Amino acid sequence: MPMSKSRPPKIGTTLIECDAFDFEFLSEIARRESWRKELHRPVYHVHKWWANRLGSVFRGIILGAVLPQDAALKDHFYKQYRFTGRRILDPFMGSGTTVGEAYKLGFTAFGQDINPVACESVRVALGEIDAKHVQAAFSHLDTGVGQHIRALYTTKDANGILCDVLYYFWVKVVACPYCGERTDLFPTRIFARNANPLHRPEVHVCCPGCGDVFKIGHAGEQCKCPRCGVRFAPDTGEVSGMNATCRACHRQFPIAKTVRASATPPDHRLYAKLVLTPSGRKTYLAATEDDRHAYEQCSRTLDAELSAGAIRIPETPLEDGHNTRQAIGYNYRQWRQFFNNRQLLTLGWLQRAIAEIPERPTRDLLLTLFSGLLEFNNLFTSYKGEGTGAVRHMFSHHILKPERMPIEANVWGTPRSSGSFLNLFNSRLMRAIEYRKNPFELNASTGEKVYGINREFVGHLVTGFPSDGRIQTDAIYIACGSSDTISLPDKSIDAVITDPPFFDNVHYSELADFFYAWQKLYPRGFVNGSSTTRHASEVQDADAREFSGKLSTVLRESARVLRDDGLLIFTYHHSRPDGWSSLLSAIVRAGLSVVNCHPVKAEMSVAAPKAQAKEPIQLDAIIVCRKAAQDPRDACSPSAAIAAAERRAREKIERLRAAGLVISRNDCRVVLMGQLLAELCPQPRESDAGDLLMPISEEIDRILEAMAEHEKKRDPALRPSSGTHTQMQLPFA
Ligand SMILES: C[S@@+](CC[C@H](N)C(=O)[O-])C[C@H]1O[C@@H](n2cnc3c(N)ncnc32)[C@H](O)[C@@H]1O
Ligand SMILES: [Zn+2]
Ligand SMILES: [Zn+2]
Repeated sequence: MPMSKSRPPKIGTTLIECDAFDFEFLSEIARRESWRKELHRPVYHVHKWWANRLGSVFRGIILGAVLPQDAALKDHFYKQYRFTGRRILDPFMGSGTTVGEAYKLGFTAFGQDINPVACESVRVALGEIDAKHVQAAFSHLDTGVGQHIRALYTTKDANGILCDVLYYFWVKVVACPYCGERTDLFPTRIFARNANPLHRPEVHVCCPGCGDVFKIGHAGEQCKCPRCGVRFAPDTGEVSGMNATCRACHRQFPIAKTVRASATPPDHRLYAKLVLTPSGRKTYLAATEDDRHAYEQCSRTLDAELSAGAIRIPETPLEDGHNTRQAIGYNYRQWRQFFNNRQLLTLGWLQRAIAEIPERPTRDLLLTLFSGLLEFNNLFTSYKGEGTGAVRHMFSHHILKPERMPIEANVWGTPRSSGSFLNLFNSRLMRAIEYRKNPFELNASTGEKVYGINREFVGHLVTGFPSDGRIQTDAIYIACGSSDTISLPDKSIDAVITDPPFFDNVHYSELADFFYAWQKLYPRGFVNGSSTTRHASEVQDADAREFSGKLSTVLRESARVLRDDGLLIFTYHHSRPDGWSSLLSAIVRAGLSVVNCHPVKAEMSVAAPKAQAKEPIQLDAIIVCRKAAQDPRDACSPSAAIAAAERRAREKIERLRAAGLVISRNDCRVVLMGQLLAELCPQPRESDAGDLLMPISEEIDRILEAMAEHEKKRDPALRPSSGTHTQMQLPFA
């Protein structure tokens, strides 16, 4: 790889504005990064954030925004650039992908986000870190609070030998509305299977007769309990769909309604554990009376600690919202109810011990790591099985979905645990610290790490934007608040590069409140005493007009701080027409004009609405805008625009095809709508974008249909009836 220090070209007519922009190359690296993005860009993964974008795509966008038209992206991607004195802003910063990538290339980076959980994560991950202090603080915790916590995750095996508990297995329990009998809510009696059942088909089951746990050869077979002789079908339980059957009176009852009628969330019963013997063997065992007594003892200690005011736990109530409604329907009213008493006790101890660390940056960093731990240690998690990260965290759905068979992991952990503090310390924090010292890129063809080209993260991070206009070129500036107001002077930014929320039902703040409820117990940095991270100006709305209006306000403010000849670039995708009309409307009302648009490999959307289930989106549109006044083109009629957009979309799809991507119907939409936006611009400011798309909506559908049919013929696997998900082929592997 060439590593010469090059002079940055002048911002003017740039590479990303032309079709020569090599989005195929970028897609190739994006695919590599997306396999394990937390390994490839660990600095953006110190804490959970949603819609975490691929760093290499943003590096490519940034370079495209400054390189001249005739530059080849693949040649410049691995060069050592320092764009000193140039400024990049991300008004929807999230986990800090744009600011980090801009900083690595020598820019002065400005990031703003409305959510304090996101801002605090970026503050500690990119701010001051002393690795020696962090390591020393961790060792201190390990021999102190770590020992106390580990002691609560011990048990005896069948031979009376003391073992560590890796996981406790719980099942939800409700009282039968007819006879009052406590009924387990097992949808299946299988509680553990290997992540790779083809190689390891054996499963572990819990007997409905005596509660013993044992192993059977595979999930399908009828089995007989070796202890009590009961025969049962292992993959059925008391629960079938939304109903449960009482084991005492055999009557069926609706689960949700029964839970709602009681005043509290469902109770839980401890039935099994996975232990690690001193010789290092993992064994599944039934929970014993001693285990239940040990748990009760934790409950008593928790009460005592709380009455003495010795620990803090999150008493904040859950507020109604799209993402919290299902949990509230199960009577979860306070965040503390998401945890069992042992989890509250050990998490409370751990957070207190971290809060006592005298050195501030280390303390704040470890408090954020602690917050990330919560995702794996609550009653909304489940067991993925062995052979993978064993804990399925609570956000594998974008709603808070009560889990019928939750798993309780060892909070401090052993070297064989997943989702533990010990585990996250190594997998998240140590990796991030390593990356900061020597940030690398991935070689697109071999996947090898390319070192020695990026600026090292030295932790020079400033909170708040400089009000006096005096900007330190080697700093990262972070502000928390709605980007409908950005405290920067007019025309002070060279490029705005961002990733706005999509128009869907994921409210980051509703989910982030789960973390914030704990974080706010120890205020610091961007974490203050407020009870929620929700905000009226958060760009998110189930209503397209509202969404578009809020997005437009942020885009307009971003355009204000952008120099007149600067680019505003963002990534976007959507599977519905109103997702695009609301976007176009926001762009036009912000006084912007789309000058080009490129498809690029994105990650699969996790919060896939139904429309995407069979035709998943694997592409993002990189939407390149200039201020409308700077766009010399004449406005184009919708009919002329759609004809041109179809031609250009087909060309770009061909390029993706040649690079080995398989294109779904929704991908066709992303490419076509992106091109259409570019063809429809510039538009007079007062025009309503909805009106622009309306007359050509049938034409759009017809073209999409034809494009999707064409793609399907090339790939029979894409036919919806086959149920096969769209996937990228692996020509570069
Ligand atoms: C799609 S995410 C950005 C993710 C980011 N690119 C990353 O890789 O992590 C959108 C972000 O916009 C933030 N946001 C929503 N409304 C906002 C507003 N009015 N001002 C600033 N940030 C806002 C959300 O909190 C969220 O972090
Ligand atoms: Zn009953
Ligand atoms: Zn039995």
